[in-house]
Amino acid sequence: MGRTTLIGLFAGAGTFYYITQRERYPGSQLPFDETKKTVVILGSGWGSTSLLKALDTTEYNVVCQLFSLTCNPAKHLWTQVVVSPKNFFLFTPLLPSVAVGTLSPRSIIQSTRYITRHKTRGVSVIEAEAQSVDPVNKTVTVTDNSPIKGATSTKKIPYDYLVMAVGAEVQTFGIPGVQEHACFMKELADAERMQKQFMDCIETAAFPGQSEEEVQRLLHMVVVGGGPTGIELSGELHDFLEDDLKSWYPELASKIKITLVEALPSVLPMFSKQLIDYTESTFKESKIDIMTKTMVKEVKPDSVVLQMPDKSIQELPCGMVVWAGGNKGRKVTQDLMAKFPQEQTNRRGIVVDDYLRMKGADGIYAIGDCSATSYAPTAQVASQEGAYLARMLVQIAKKDQLENKLEALEIEQTKIEDDEARKRIVEEIDATRAQMAKVKLRPFHYSHQGSLAYIGSEKAIADLPFMNGNVGFFVIFWTWSEMLTRCYFA
Ligand code: FAD
Ligand code: NAI
Repeated sequence: MGRTTLIGLFAGAGTFYYITQRERYPGSQLPFDETKKTVVILGSGWGSTSLLKALDTTEYNVVCQLFSLTCNPAKHLWTQVVVSPKNFFLFTPLLPSVAVGTLSPRSIIQSTRYITRHKTRGVSVIEAEAQSVDPVNKTVTVTDNSPIKGATSTKKIPYDYLVMAVGAEVQTFGIPGVQEHACFMKELADAERMQKQFMDCIETAAFPGQSEEEVQRLLHMVVVGGGPTGIELSGELHDFLEDDLKSWYPELASKIKITLVEALPSVLPMFSKQLIDYTESTFKESKIDIMTKTMVKEVKPDSVVLQMPDKSIQELPCGMVVWAGGNKGRKVTQDLMAKFPQEQTNRRGIVVDDYLRMKGADGIYAIGDCSATSYAPTAQVASQEGAYLARMLVQIAKKDQLENKLEALEIEQTKIEDDEARKRIVEEIDATRAQMAKVKLRPFHYSHQGSLAYIGSEKAIADLPFMNGNVGFFVIFWTWSEMLTRCYFA
């Protein structure tokens, strides 16, 4: 081995060691200081994680150094607090893969503390649920609802700026039995529960002496909701059946049945007709039954009650029901909106202006699924909004600092008697005003990168903005989640 190769190898190994050590032990952070302005971020999902990652805490220090000595810089630096009932970020697009056991739960989460630990300034993370927001006194009441509680489990946190990024919760429409007997597909615990129930159904069907009727019931999986969640989950269930169950349970695999129930006339209403037709024909080939114009009226422990297109009622025996019937606003969001009855009238979520500020409120921003905008409630929108808000907060910090500087200069001006000194202060006031005019807050602009949904059998449908639906049909290949996935465009 030559000398240069050896040096190269050592240098490579050294760099690798340095990077891994820096990742594991990121070093000291600027201290959390409660006297500073506070940004409270509610949630650890797509919106808040994108905001946290993009928020340049160094910038705040740089901004601080711009201060004139007449201001108290400490007061104008910001601290951030993240509040969420779970201390991790969940990569939701891969949740159905966890539900069928092809991915491990750990592989689709990232610790929020890992992200905050790598920020320049310390960020306080509180594992708790925001119960209520007091927009007058600018406080959030948070409660630790985890199984293990200490002597203190409720706290009021004051904020200067509040970011609502609490997402949405599952909409059950009050249909009897959904909450009690159906599995959901929203949180990590839902996917783990579904996987357990699915496997239990199969093992129970394999129990010796089970009647044929009971085997058929246990192996019947019903997915409710033909939106992207229900479609992707049905596709994953089908793949699991084809790829794994056929070799593990050869005597049962042919008896497993998947039914997708949708109240509307078609599945995936947000996609074009061609993509809907393609999905339906793929499901037909995969032997997944689609029942459209059919509404679930009740979920029982071992069956699901349906209202058929002709309004007759039918009861389908089944082993498992997965509810993917859509989302609604969380209680904390609804309660906050109720405090602004004039401005907050949209039932879908918090109404915001072009800068993502909650209409009617002071210092509150809303991003992601808890807000009502003209965009679909997707991860793509939430993460772009989070990144935008990170940039905005830096601009707001600059503006706040300049405003405070101006205020201090104006006070100083009234105290000064010397003409020369007053002239200098006036010049500084003018310069500050000019600087303030340069701080521009640009409205949020969403850049749609297309929609993609996995439909099973290594196929996915994609609705891309540059395709305009006129380019005919395309089939491409690419790697998605360790699989070669076939994609179909219209
Ligand atoms: P979330 O990501 O849901 O985060 C909300 C956060 O708030 C969570 O951390 C939660 O714990 C926390 N929280 C809840 N209540 C409180 C409270 N009271 N106080 C404090 N914190 C609270 N979108 C796509 O664009 N592409 C996809 O492929 C895609 N696939 C999906 C697959 C599945 C199975 C699901 C369920 C959704 C999928 N989505 C996808 C939609 C996407 O996940 C959501 O649009 C996105 O999560 C919204 O981000 P968010 O930050 O608003 O909310
Ligand atoms: P959704 O609201 O899109 O779909 C729910 C479906 O359930 C609706 O079509 C509704 O008609 C149906 N439904 C409701 N009640 C019913 C009943 N009683 N009986 C029969 N059908 C009933 O909800 P989904 O699929 O959870 O998606 C939520 C959001 O997350 C969407 O904005 C979606 O774009 C996004 N998402 C995106 C994905 C992607 O881009 N790949 C994947 C998953 C979700």
